Amino acid sequence: MAFIKRILRTLFARAEALFDWSFGQRSNPFANLGALGWYFFWIVAASGIYLYLFFDTGITDAYASVEYITHDQWYAAGVMRSLHRYASDALVIVVFLHILREFSLDRLRGKRFFAWLTGVPLLWFIYMCGITGYWLVWDKLAQYIAIATSEWLDALPFFGEPIANNFLNSSTLGGRFFTLMVFMHIFAPLFMLFLMWLHIQRHARARVNPPRPLAIGTAITLLILSLVYPALSQGPADLDVVPASLNLDWYYLAAYPILDYIPGGQLWLILVVGSIVMSLMPWLPPARPDPVAVVSLDNCNGCARCCDDCPFSAITMMPRSDGTAYMTEAVVNAANCMSCGICVGACPTATPFRRATEIIPGIELPEHPIAGLRDRTVAASASFDGMPRVLVYACDHSAAEALRSANTKVITMPCVAMLPPSFIDFVLSRGLADGVMLAGCAEGDCYYRIGGSWTRDRISGERDPYLRKRVERDRLSLSWLPSGSKRRRASALAEFRSSLQKMPANTPRKRADRG
Ligand code: HEM
Ligand code: SF4
Ligand code: SF4
Repeated sequence: MAFIKRILRTLFARAEALFDWSFGQRSNPFANLGALGWYFFWIVAASGIYLYLFFDTGITDAYASVEYITHDQWYAAGVMRSLHRYASDALVIVVFLHILREFSLDRLRGKRFFAWLTGVPLLWFIYMCGITGYWLVWDKLAQYIAIATSEWLDALPFFGEPIANNFLNSSTLGGRFFTLMVFMHIFAPLFMLFLMWLHIQRHARARVNPPRPLAIGTAITLLILSLVYPALSQGPADLDVVPASLNLDWYYLAAYPILDYIPGGQLWLILVVGSIVMSLMPWLPPARPDPVAVVSLDNCNGCARCCDDCPFSAITMMPRSDGTAYMTEAVVNAANCMSCGICVGACPTATPFRRATEIIPGIELPEHPIAGLRDRTVAASASFDGMPRVLVYACDHSAAEALRSANTKVITMPCVAMLPPSFIDFVLSRGLADGVMLAGCAEGDCYYRIGGSWTRDRISGERDPYLRKRVERDRLSLSWLPSGSKRRRASALAEFRSSLQKMPANTPRKRADRG
């Protein structure tokens, strides 16, 4: 499993580098697959509602109404039909890439199981919506789907009378089953929406909207596609004639040709067993649970910054329990805590400048104490050999370990947002290095979802705790790259080094300047 993940990660890193180059990091579609899924869902829903105004839900007039939509009103309803079709196809594409990507990044195991597990039934709903949609057109393709699906459903031991009898010939054609399909095509998306909502319940500030340039670019592409290749029907259904050749939509209908080779019962078995195996994947193999964040009430003033910044809604502010004058205290829900440390970076008490012999912040990860981070920082600064001295604070997914050398020291942590900005000030004001580099995941694509955004906002002063203005920004480099981008990370470092070379060596500020 780990080997497959590694290969997929390499492939994604290559593809992402290409898209970074053409789209820019923020609008890279690979970093926005979940958000694009939502976006396509809304396009499908909006265009579907418009189409419903003109669609006749009776089996005898459905085809004629779709022809009216496609040809007579090609400029509005026709475009909507094509948008409906292409956005549905795009939804399947982004969802499969989304699954592969989340799998390759291992964002499904341990406590992260929830989104994966709720994603599996979502897949069934996507297909239910798509297949019933093709049925409604009641053209030759719909006829093929109706008969093949009915025979396939008849392989299940639930139905007394074979459903396929509805489609024996035009004289036995039953409208009731068609009405059921219309009903399912309208109500399945509502269930799907509920599942999509459930899917992101463990994510604080889930990204359900792609960045505007990507949204606009995608909409324009779909629109052009709709105008150049409008979605067309394949001739009216005629149950007395077997369709000779058909154009299949492979995104939704790929399972149908398989039915020519294996019995329907076996295909059901494959899909059900496949879904069960997929549902179990978060525990294959089980992830080692990391120790969760711990609050030290003696040091917590109830400011709620940790609660605001936690990407997994794992912190709740509760009424104070220790009798101090503060109103609230942070309480960690161990079941939701992913041990990312982002709360530590948010806590104003997590500062290396504190004079206390033992630094204990309001919240911290037992495996990565802030006192240990200060000790590692001081030890790294004492071991430089050569100029300019660069201290890299990197997340575990940054591939920054490879940058380590005599004059480059690398300190890793689960997420760069675990680093309180005061550490950068500490290093540069004490002359512990000539430059500091923060190496994290690509923009909008943090392994812990929003650690990168919070770090950028803290550095630019838009979010507390912010990096003090006195810190020389020329001595700070931010490197945001997809995991596994070793070469690009090395060249970012080389660029930073050459800019530092043009500057004088960094010396400790006088105590009076330290402010
Ligand atoms: C309509 C289909 C889907 C949509 C619209 C969708 C959307 C999303 C969104 C918006 C996120 C949150 C991104 C963020 O803010 O970090 C997400 C995360 C995720 N999704 Fe989906 N998703 C869909 C289907 C699936 C499926 C089928 C699976 C897998 C079976 C899946 C697995 C995951 C995983 C593992 C995460 C990340 C969880 C984490 O970071 O802990 N999704 N999805
Ligand atoms: S370690 Fe991460 S997930 Fe856990 S409480 Fe802190 S911010 Fe939330
Ligand atoms: S950020 Fe620190 S001080 Fe503020 S509530 Fe959280 S633990 Fe307490």
